[in-house]
Amino acid sequence: MTTARSRPVGEALAVPRPLPLSGRPTGAVDLPAAVAAIVDPGTTEAVWRNELGGLTFSSGDRFVKWAPAGSGLDLEAERARLEWAARWTTVPELLGHGRDDDGSWLVTRALAGRNAVDPYWAARPAQAARLIGAALRDLHDALPVEGCPFDWSVAERTARAGIDPARVGLAPPVGRLVVCHGDACAPNTLLSDDGSWTGHVDLGRLGVGDLWGDLAIAAWSTEWNYGPGYDADVYAGYGVEPDQGRIAFYRRLWDAT
Ligand SMILES: Nc1ncnc2c1ncn2[C@@H]1O[C@H](COP(=O)(O)OP(=O)(O)OP(=O)(O)O)[C@@H](O)[C@H]1O
Ligand SMILES: [Mg+2]
Repeated sequence: MTTARSRPVGEALAVPRPLPLSGRPTGAVDLPAAVAAIVDPGTTEAVWRNELGGLTFSSGDRFVKWAPAGSGLDLEAERARLEWAARWTTVPELLGHGRDDDGSWLVTRALAGRNAVDPYWAARPAQAARLIGAALRDLHDALPVEGCPFDWSVAERTARAGIDPARVGLAPPVGRLVVCHGDACAPNTLLSDDGSWTGHVDLGRLGVGDLWGDLAIAAWSTEWNYGPGYDADVYAGYGVEPDQGRIAFYRRLWDAT
């Protein structure tokens, strides 16, 4: 996916983009048949649409994440990572999953909190940015590198994207090896109104890599979602000085893959 996926709808862009950006759907959303069979359509709300046409629905104490067939979205990868990460930190509890001709889906138990781009947090960007940094630090500290079966190294990412690693330049030596979230954009951190983080979602790319692979994107995503000027709050929340060389490298890699 590209960096545009978590940019707010309506942001002025230099070039026209053919795909809708990710965010809360503004119009009516058709409930896929498989989702309608799982939840009560009368009490179900579409809360998110991603760039590839994936949808997330909220229904009572459950969320259903649905990916259209052929979209390239891999919910099986996310299912495996949710089950692994749940042993050490707060991620959605898996309640079910399935697949049919139209798509695939994951059913999870609702976590507390609002995502960090909810209007409540968009109105408090400095506090939200600091919490995003702190939440990422806690995630990295909680997940054990040793025994983690998932890889998010530069080599794995360029190979999966089918790009020549030379395109992003020489990778800097690893700053600190951690289990990365893999998509540490602002909407994937949940925050409670009392100013603590309550969970991480969207773990389909979780894997071992340099902490800067996550942190560079978490800070960048505050620009897309809140505007410029909040990246320092993310680094402060994480408790690290910005490493400009690694930040630039991992942003190039993100854009390229
Ligand atoms: N179990 C859950 N509890 C609380 N909120 C959830 C849960 N699952 C999903 N959400 C909400 O739904 C949103 C979309 O879910 P998710 O990030 O997994 O979808 P996505 O389509 O992969 O997102 P992206 O556009 O970042 O790729 C999240 O930002 C979060 O607000
Ligand atoms: Mg997400």
